[in-house]
Amino acid sequence: MEKKISIAIDGPAGAGKSTIARRLAKELGYYYVDTGAIYRTVAYFFDLWGISPKDIDGITRYIDELTVGIEYDEEGVQHMIMNGMDVTEDIRTQEIAQKASLVSAQPIVREMLLDMQRDVAKQHNVIMDGRDIGTVVLPKATVKIFLTASAEVRAQRRTKELTAKGQKADYNKVLKEIQQRDYQDTHREVAPLKMARDSVKLDTSELDIEGVIAAIKEIIAKKVVQ
Ligand code: DC
Repeated sequence: MEKKISIAIDGPAGAGKSTIARRLAKELGYYYVDTGAIYRTVAYFFDLWGISPKDIDGITRYIDELTVGIEYDEEGVQHMIMNGMDVTEDIRTQEIAQKASLVSAQPIVREMLLDMQRDVAKQHNVIMDGRDIGTVVLPKATVKIFLTASAEVRAQRRTKELTAKGQKADYNKVLKEIQQRDYQDTHREVAPLKMARDSVKLDTSELDIEGVIAAIKEIIAKKVVQ
């Protein structure tokens, strides 16, 4: 099988990873893999079962009852399938985001999801975003980008996004949640959020989407000869 191209985009919540990755994937004709959605699906499952994301015994006992699938529709949109059910929309709440941050700290959960993420990258050219893509999931990724922005800018963007979707969002609450998630995601023992040594860091605080896309395209063009 010919070697596939993989572009890893890591960074904290709200740095603009998914918006950027989705756009780039469309332009380049690659698969977009949103790995946060995979952890959200796991969090959603345990939430339905009434098991706390910190309850390692409960998680260990019931994890075999869970099957997680990724499917792509004709438009290339990623759908999350939990035990045969499409939960793509259900997982997009702040509550599930928080629970995903906690459940993703459990080694048993990360272990279960590792091969599934790697398999997609073995079969397709991908743009994969998350927290540990460049460090753990795809350490040999063709291009690694670390997207970041100040917590305040990220909270502003997230508040706008949630409001646009018709969800209630209070800036101060969103900021607190983002700071809490940053702390959890960077301080866990297994695969914490951190920049890979060979990653290119891009601070998006002062850039708009077009600016970020242009900057990343330049980085990709230098590494990938199409
Ligand atoms: O990207 P997101 O906000 O949808 O991710 C939700 C949570 O999932 C995030 O706070 C931490 C976890 N996550 C992770 O641990 N590793 C990844 N590669 C992606 C997400």
